[in-house]
Amino acid sequence: RTMPVARPTRQIPDAAWTTGIREMTEPWKGALGCLGVAVFFTMTISIISWQALEQPPEEWVLRGQAGGMLWERRRGALLLRVLPAGRTVLVITVGSVPATEPPPPRDHCWHDGGQFCYAWEEDAELHLSLEPSPAPATECYSVRWTPLRPDVTLKDCFSMANVSWYGGASIRAQRWPLNGAESHTQPFVSGDFSKNPAGYGPVLERYFLGSTGVTVTVPPDVPLFLSVESERHFCLETPAGRAAEPLRYSLCLSSDITAAHRHGCLVWSFTPCNGWHRAAGAWWFSHSYRTYFSTFPSPQEDLAPERREKQDSARGWDPALLEPLQLSITLSSYTSIASPLFLRSLRDGDTASHWLSLQPRSGGCSVPLLTTWKGRLCVRLNVTSEAALSWYLARARHLQQALGATYVVFEGAEGNAFLEQAVPPPAELLGDGYTEALATALVTLGNATIISAGARSSHLPLFIQMSPLRSDWSHAGLKGLIPSVLHYSLLGYNFFIPDAVG
Ligand SMILES: *[C@@H]1O[C@H](CO)[C@@H](O)[C@H](O)[C@H]1NC(C)=O
Ligand SMILES: *[C@@H]1O[C@H](CO)[C@@H](O)[C@H](O)[C@H]1NC(C)=O
Ligand SMILES: *[C@@H]1O[C@H](CO)[C@@H](O)[C@H](O)[C@H]1NC(C)=O
Repeated sequence: RTMPVARPTRQIPDAAWTTGIREMTEPWKGALGCLGVAVFFTMTISIISWQALEQPPEEWVLRGQAGGMLWERRRGALLLRVLPAGRTVLVITVGSVPATEPPPPRDHCWHDGGQFCYAWEEDAELHLSLEPSPAPATECYSVRWTPLRPDVTLKDCFSMANVSWYGGASIRAQRWPLNGAESHTQPFVSGDFSKNPAGYGPVLERYFLGSTGVTVTVPPDVPLFLSVESERHFCLETPAGRAAEPLRYSLCLSSDITAAHRHGCLVWSFTPCNGWHRAAGAWWFSHSYRTYFSTFPSPQEDLAPERREKQDSARGWDPALLEPLQLSITLSSYTSIASPLFLRSLRDGDTASHWLSLQPRSGGCSVPLLTTWKGRLCVRLNVTSEAALSWYLARARHLQQALGATYVVFEGAEGNAFLEQAVPPPAELLGDGYTEALATALVTLGNATIISAGARSSHLPLFIQMSPLRSDWSHAGLKGLIPSVLHYSLLGYNFFIPDAVG
């Protein structure tokens, strides 16, 4: 009676065994299956890659009225394009994030038409926005990169292909336009060529003008590095590490270079700029000043014996002889640590308010910051101290009156003593804060004041002493003279005194 139950259980394994035998004897069916799977995979892969290839090479990220910004996938670049004509006026190669990873069309600021944000995971975040326009027919965009890791160097390079660039920093072998210049990455701070020939010169502004009608302006509080690769690009960078800070700048787009300069200037300068037109006048003026001035023999001049005799006999200061001559005195903001002035302030314990000092973090005395100036170990006037500044100006005024000097020349206004020693500067002396503060104070000495550097001081009635040129036919000599004159004038410094070759 149990047989009907047991029979089906024995029959099922039988049937399974026979079908297995049949499949093994017909291998072409298995092969067909494999082929089907392979074809399926091939199709999927080709569809995916076709979709990837079909993606547009550029994508709009921010659109304004007159133009807009695009992301170019191949290079990892931001493009600025004029809208109706579709002309690309600016290419910014982005060096801080992997270029292959493109931002999606819809970012996390998509609800606001005037902004674009995207974060490259753990690298950096990009924020683009439209800015209020400084003038009609000019459109400005703000670009802000924020590092998301301390070791990310933010670096944006502005292409020179089909764009001539002007402005920025003066360099030893000055070029006009900037495209022919070459400089390694270094802080964007004014400097003295006799101290550092490969550094940036005495006149600079965080302003670049492109021949396609674009301007690039960097705010003064951004710690900035600049490098220039001849005929390729110039790059704006911020330092990585502990002091990692966002890289911020503004781009302004105008119909042409003249309009761009007129309106772009409003962004960084205190007065409207029309430098190019005034350059010629300033040149003539400063040249006639120079010839007038050089008639006064300097003490170092090697006088011929007969002239020396004549001079000796003329001792006694005949005022009539000196009438047409004008005297100039030269001062600087440095004092040697061996000078009685410094030793006295050291004894009185007021070094911190008189000279630039390092403030220790955990209390204690501040220590004067030492620098070298003309081969001597020196300290530098603290221009952010009211007391020190008025004391210094009073001394200068007294000297000027006592000697009856027409001109007062201030040397060594350039540079950042903190950055030279690789010490982070205090907030009020970031970048070219020193030059700016000193220039602002010197204006009170009258309209015959000559200063050796210019940074954010083009609106002040001061003469700029051009840095001495080499006496040869190179870009550091005579060939650099006109490029320098044009550079100074473009940045709004219309009154300057040419030296040596001039
Ligand atoms: C520069 O201009 C030329 C001629 O108009 C054009 O062929 C070339 O592609 C441009 N180069 C770049 C990098 O835009
Ligand atoms: C300059 O002087 C001011 C006022 O005395 C002081 O607060 C500041 O720390 C000084 N700056 C430097 C860099 O020494
Ligand atoms: C400079 O100042 C003097 C006296 O303060 C004045 O007589 C002269 O007109 C001024 N020169 C210019 C060009 O403003």
